[in-house]
Amino acid sequence: MTTLIDGKATAAAIKQEIADEVQQRVAQGLRRPHLAAVLVGHDGGSETYVRNKVLACEACGFESSLLRFEDDITEQQLLDCVHSLNNDPSVDGFIVQLPLPRHIDEQKIIEAIDYRKDVDGFHPINVGRMAIGLPCFISATPKGIIELLRRYHIATSGKKCVVLGRSNIVGKPMAQLMMQKQYGDATVTVCHSHSATLADECRAADILIAAIGRPGFVTADMVKPGAVVIDVGTTRVPDASRPKGYRLSGDVDFDAVAPLCSAITPVPGGVGPMTIAMLMTNTLEAARRRDALQN
Ligand code: GUN
Repeated sequence: MTTLIDGKATAAAIKQEIADEVQQRVAQGLRRPHLAAVLVGHDGGSETYVRNKVLACEACGFESSLLRFEDDITEQQLLDCVHSLNNDPSVDGFIVQLPLPRHIDEQKIIEAIDYRKDVDGFHPINVGRMAIGLPCFISATPKGIIELLRRYHIATSGKKCVVLGRSNIVGKPMAQLMMQKQYGDATVTVCHSHSATLADECRAADILIAAIGRPGFVTADMVKPGAVVIDVGTTRVPDASRPKGYRLSGDVDFDAVAPLCSAITPVPGGVGPMTIAMLMTNTLEAARRRDALQN
């Protein structure tokens, strides 16, 4: 029997836990956490993500602010926006939704964010602290996957984990966390588009985490029977039969792979909702830390 890892239900439970804590905070006279999101341009995927982040804030009892800019915003104007959010005492944490237009240096924007408000966990201070196991903001997608594995009681210690993909947002931090004693405690291999032995590595994995951004890339012959498969892919694939004209496709050929697995995440409804729930936990943590500094 394959366990379907329900990220949607798990994320809903986490948001309820957060909402309960926020209610207690408010009853104690503390502020509601406040998340700000900066959205540049009109990319369909980014619009959806940011809308879902704002809705999640409402579900958690947070305040939220959405700052929208057109594609032609200059890098300096966006830096000015980041600086004003850094200095706004009413904002606990904020994100700048990626990708940004090509004329803006993403790394420069990320490095301008005050690391204490960097609830995406993208600032080099947070990335570095995460790498050596210090308290920090951990980027939401890998943190959500760790939380799913934990809540489903999936054993990771000493297991062989293969991460497909080496992005700064998912692949690299995922590999770090799965390696660390306090999180995955696993033996980790990272594969990417130039890995010569990719299929063999995948076949040896007890836990396979696919974050390569290619629909249906992981096929049944690449999965060991009994493996746990986590699918991070969310590519929009044209589909005339759907009301929106597209569907979301994961990196895993779900129908062929699922029967082989001991557990698997679906797309949609797997990792995606957890990413947003973890952004909420990071924002709550930012608010707690600011309270601790003030007292
Ligand atoms: N683009 C895709 N995923 C993310 C994310 O987690 N945070 C931000 N800021 N942009 C993204």
